[in-house]
Amino acid sequence: MLELLWYKNAVIYSLDLETFRDGNGDGTGDFDGLFNKLDYLHALGVDTIWLAPFQITPNKDNGYDIADFYGVDPRHGSSGDFVNFMHKANQLGLRVIIDLVVNHTSDQHPWFIESRSSKDNPKRNWYVWSDEKPSDWDEGMVFPGVQKATWTLDKKSKSYYFHRFYDFMPDLNTDNPEVREEITRIMGYWLQLGVSGFRMDAVPFVLESPAPGDQEPVMHFEYLKEMRAFLQWRKGDAVLLGEANVLPEESKNYFGEDGEGIHLMFNFFVNQYTFYALATADIKPLIEALLATKEIFPKSQWAYFLRNHDELDLGRLTDEQRQKVFERFGPEEQMQLYQRGIRRRLAPMLGNRQQLELAYSLMFALPGTPVIRYGDEIGMGDDLTLKERDAVRTPMQWTRDKNAGFSKADKLVHPVIGEGFYSYTHTNVEAQRRDQGSLLNWTTDLIRLRKECPEIGLGDWQILDTRFNSILCMSYQWKERKLFTWHNFSEKAQEVIITAEEAGSTRLIDVFNNIESVADEKGNHTILLEAYGYRWFRAPSSV
Ligand code: NOJ
Repeated sequence: MLELLWYKNAVIYSLDLETFRDGNGDGTGDFDGLFNKLDYLHALGVDTIWLAPFQITPNKDNGYDIADFYGVDPRHGSSGDFVNFMHKANQLGLRVIIDLVVNHTSDQHPWFIESRSSKDNPKRNWYVWSDEKPSDWDEGMVFPGVQKATWTLDKKSKSYYFHRFYDFMPDLNTDNPEVREEITRIMGYWLQLGVSGFRMDAVPFVLESPAPGDQEPVMHFEYLKEMRAFLQWRKGDAVLLGEANVLPEESKNYFGEDGEGIHLMFNFFVNQYTFYALATADIKPLIEALLATKEIFPKSQWAYFLRNHDELDLGRLTDEQRQKVFERFGPEEQMQLYQRGIRRRLAPMLGNRQQLELAYSLMFALPGTPVIRYGDEIGMGDDLTLKERDAVRTPMQWTRDKNAGFSKADKLVHPVIGEGFYSYTHTNVEAQRRDQGSLLNWTTDLIRLRKECPEIGLGDWQILDTRFNSILCMSYQWKERKLFTWHNFSEKAQEVIITAEEAGSTRLIDVFNNIESVADEKGNHTILLEAYGYRWFRAPSSV
């Protein structure tokens, strides 16, 4: 009964409370604000909300620097507001997953304050220490160009602590059974408050045992099984959705050799080749990426996305491929980040409605769970004057009123985009709701359509040869249901042919437009694809 696994066909909406909607008028988004926008999300058709970290934090890394895992940062409201929000979300049938950030804490976390206080403090081994300066102290940074080291001297205890990310985020020692026990307590706490699982931050780094010097870190994949088992004792259908930008052959270790590891993982590999295909119209590497990540267990699942709250990471492409994507989507130096990525939103990157629709249609047609990012449903822009990844973290644009209807305050946590095509006066929810042909209404239709096509998340899929280098055709089959999708990455319109034999039917229904195609006397269906066109067809006998 795989169809009962809710995450196989969920549509996930990711948002950051901070910039979604400010209910109390202090300039920062909060649970009260989100509470009042749940109807919007429900009407959009998404069924799962992924909340970025909202726990107590000095907020030096957008909340990923947590100083207390068991509460709500007062900027976002109270635990009472969280429970009210959960209650309404559940009433509307919306699930909630939250970030689980346990690779590191803030350096302001009481555990770290204790740990650094002396070498014999009971919390000393909760973090990773070295008495000597490790030879690789300036290697392995995740934010090159901004981050200078991975081992930093703690003047107080005169030794070096390990931090895979910024120096104000020391890594927890997840080899320590006490730390593991605490992590289960954190998971148990939020599960008890009703969440349906966790987007697990920085999974490879949680699993590694970092060692000073040049030794290869040991990876503890069995820890994922342990976490999954705990999760399922506590809440049978809760899931872990992993952030792990790893090679296809490594991803098997995360899902587990028997499928009993992590439930879902973001497919970063396919993501990068999708952008390569969008930039060059060459889909060969994308097909290879899809095939390389094809074999997964029935209860495991890929999550597909286009953009998230970080930079578009192109680190897996060859230098030449990356250069081509930079040229097309991030030609200016200020658009690039960490020597590997682009810090722009999807709409300004693609720059036209046809390619935006193509990209979204493709993402929803990929064999997994689609994850969309707040604001992308209306085609929001970015603000390159903001530092690092903040460029893509500006407030949600609800209306053309002051502060885009995000907040009544005079000063905001991040400025709204107030100039140019992507200004809130032009790009906002209210205006798009009134416009039949808006991106918002189109996205709402796409989500509804995706929900009517469970074979995409559940079925077997194949790539069919179209004889064009720029047209991707996929077929999906789940029980009696059969679906075909075509995506044309080129700016040239093309006709493609599928035989009635391949389609398993002499009739095909275009599910976007409800138009029927009947095979000609030779038994061929001819499908017209506009420039950047996309079509989804169903064999009628299979509904
Ligand atoms: C990955 C998150 O997506 C990113 O925003 C954060 O900076 C790092 N992990 C560190 O938590």
